[in-house]
Amino acid sequence: MWASEDKAMREFDEKSITQAVIERLSDCKDARFKRVMTSLVTHLHDFVRDVQLTEEEWMNAIQFLTAVGQACTPKRQEFILLSDTLGVSVLVITLNHRAVNATTESTVMGPFYWEGAPERPLGANLAEGVKGEPAFYSGRVLDADGKPIKGATLDIWSGDGEGAYDMQMGDEVGMRARGKIRTDEQGRYWFRSIRPTYYPVPTDGPVGAMLRKMGRHPNRPGHIHMIVSAPGHEPITTHLFVADSPYLDSDAVFGMKESLVAKFNKHPAGKAPTGENMDVQFYTVEYDFKLRRAAKAA
Ligand code: BEZ
Ligand code: FE
Repeated sequence: MWASEDKAMREFDEKSITQAVIERLSDCKDARFKRVMTSLVTHLHDFVRDVQLTEEEWMNAIQFLTAVGQACTPKRQEFILLSDTLGVSVLVITLNHRAVNATTESTVMGPFYWEGAPERPLGANLAEGVKGEPAFYSGRVLDADGKPIKGATLDIWSGDGEGAYDMQMGDEVGMRARGKIRTDEQGRYWFRSIRPTYYPVPTDGPVGAMLRKMGRHPNRPGHIHMIVSAPGHEPITTHLFVADSPYLDSDAVFGMKESLVAKFNKHPAGKAPTGENMDVQFYTVEYDFKLRRAAKAA
């Protein structure tokens, strides 16, 4: 009797294994970690049972995750790309940045943020020497009550008009199509850059192979990135999407949000909003950002 009871405690079948692993967390002191691990084990085991995972598939998964780790360098984060392309990044962002009171929605940061972009004056051309059609961006940064915020910062970055980011061009290129702009007394901002185009996420690694095997395209609709911040407010990492861009309906990283789609109004060559004379056609874009007040420190 003793022997069979011991056996029942030591040996697990395809169902009882889940509870057995969870019970090993009984001495875990960190309540949040315990909850996360309990749920992870439950879902992971359910997944394995659901698909009746074969040993070959298990090994493929191990090799895939190993390759994802090996593709990471100080400049490349293949695990975040995996999270992005499986919709996990945007799910986490959406859960943690609920757009209450019509405040601006957040979306993925992506791998091309470069800390330390130079502060530029209002109206500056952030995209000097960058390929692409000129676009003049303007609007206001508002608080949750709709009042303008002076001295708010927009930390802006984008690819060029062919979809390539400076970071993909080699070390000698340096920063391009980036800059920080601060709002004026009336909470207004304006700057010049280019009209971004759609482009593919990096596909030369294991995540690219996964996308191909899934039968998916790798493209993101045209967008410009910004982190909008102001003292006393929650910063938002977001984009403006080009209204008529291809792939708005099938963003490879699921980051597209309707509230972030901006109309790029086309103008013939002539006087730009900054007063400069343009000898090529250009676009104007207007968009107001609305920030949430920061939660009070406990
Ligand atoms: C980007 O928008 O820059 C981006 C986002 C996620 C993955 C790859 C690129
Ligand atoms: Fe991007």
